[in-house]
Amino acid sequence: MTRIAIRNGLVITATDETYADVLVQDERVAAIAAPGSDPAVSWADGADQVLDADGCYVIPGGVDAHTHMEMPFGGTVASDSFETGTRAAAWGGTTTIVDFAIQPRGGALREGLDTWHAKAEGNCAVDYGFHMIISDVGEGPLKEMDGLVDEGVTSFKLFMAYPGNLYSDDGQILRAMQRAEGNGALIMMHAENGLAIDVLVEQALAAGRTDPRYHGDVRHVLLEAEATHRAIQLARVAGAPLYIVHVSAGEAVAHVAHARDDGLPVYAETCPQYLFLSVDDLARPDFEGAKYVCSTPLRPAEQQARLWRGLRTDDLSVVSTDHCPFCFVGQKDLGRGDFSKIPNGIPGVETRLDLLHQAVLDGHIGRRRWVELASTAPARLFGLHPRKGTIAPGADADLVVYDPAAEHVLSAETHHMNVDYSAYEGCRVTGRARTVLSRGRVIVDGGRYLGRAGDGGFVARGIGSYAG
Ligand code: URP
Ligand code: ZN
Ligand code: ZN
Repeated sequence: MTRIAIRNGLVITATDETYADVLVQDERVAAIAAPGSDPAVSWADGADQVLDADGCYVIPGGVDAHTHMEMPFGGTVASDSFETGTRAAAWGGTTTIVDFAIQPRGGALREGLDTWHAKAEGNCAVDYGFHMIISDVGEGPLKEMDGLVDEGVTSFKLFMAYPGNLYSDDGQILRAMQRAEGNGALIMMHAENGLAIDVLVEQALAAGRTDPRYHGDVRHVLLEAEATHRAIQLARVAGAPLYIVHVSAGEAVAHVAHARDDGLPVYAETCPQYLFLSVDDLARPDFEGAKYVCSTPLRPAEQQARLWRGLRTDDLSVVSTDHCPFCFVGQKDLGRGDFSKIPNGIPGVETRLDLLHQAVLDGHIGRRRWVELASTAPARLFGLHPRKGTIAPGADADLVVYDPAAEHVLSAETHHMNVDYSAYEGCRVTGRARTVLSRGRVIVDGGRYLGRAGDGGFVARGIGSYAG
């Protein structure tokens, strides 16, 4: 039996802030006690380790519900393996990721899931779960969905984008939603009108508009809004809950807000890149804009205020990263002379908590909302709560001692993600994870990584908490 006492910190959850000692026994939180109280003192006396959190916050470990480690895309593979990517997550205070297994086209869901289990097992620094991407909706895969739900893969992503690759048409989407209505799963939607986008891509390239900046133009904001609206209507017809991924603009938020105002179980996430970056980055000269190519694309900076408002009103319920790193040299440059060949994705699994803490300091969100967006809400929606996403007796001891005053500069020189650039190079932020516990093990402490590949395990998720 191992006992750890985390003393004198400000314990912040989605609902409360209180100065308390957090007492950890083996993998779980055993108790939360008033500092100086009998249980706190006697626990600390008998503890194997005492962590002083004076001046720091104690928060539940981050839950990043949208990552792509080792994801094949556009003829290459995302540069973070499960080992490097989850280690970087740990450095940044994220103790659970939910990654995406992909059904091979023409193959079974099982085949894709087995492949992703093999990539992750024994390699991860923190716990992980899987969503399943259905790339080829048919009778077989639809039936398989029920079995995956029983195995703890309780959410399925569909693409309205990328025709000929991951794309599903409206009929396929409706069928998958109907299946989800029956088995309790959550459908996650990449909402962009891929057929229309492909027309604009063809026209842009034919007109010689080949630079990265045109990636943003062809993935028009109205084509995101239209697909978001369509996905919501299809989910209504099926009676299924819906989660829109990587929302980038107010036009799409408006459709989500409307649905939520009508009481529908519709949820949405945004990502730090849409909150902190813009088309100005996509337009950087000398092909540097390729570093900022992701889909949905970055938008004009004016959109950021609309996203922050959505996060405050809970029309956007989660901030995840869509971490999908490709090196500038050797990967992003596959698209020199043709922006449509630039692998889509931005690195971010390590920087999410710090950027969102900076947003607290900048007045966009409050501290408890920070915890809720980064940890509690994704844990609830994706069936990890109350094991993850909160600090309570019986919960996994996934804990972060967070120093809210630690200033640092984000840079590829110092980050731990396996990618040769930082999308936030030179950005000064205040706040940093000082100590990170994953199921009761101290894996990061004071600038040292103390964990091992294989510390993290697969988490079978339950049905999420959504009305549906
Ligand atoms: O650009 C992105 N988002 N790459 C990852 C794949 C996806 O659509 O989430
Ligand atoms: Zn997507
Ligand atoms: Zn993604």
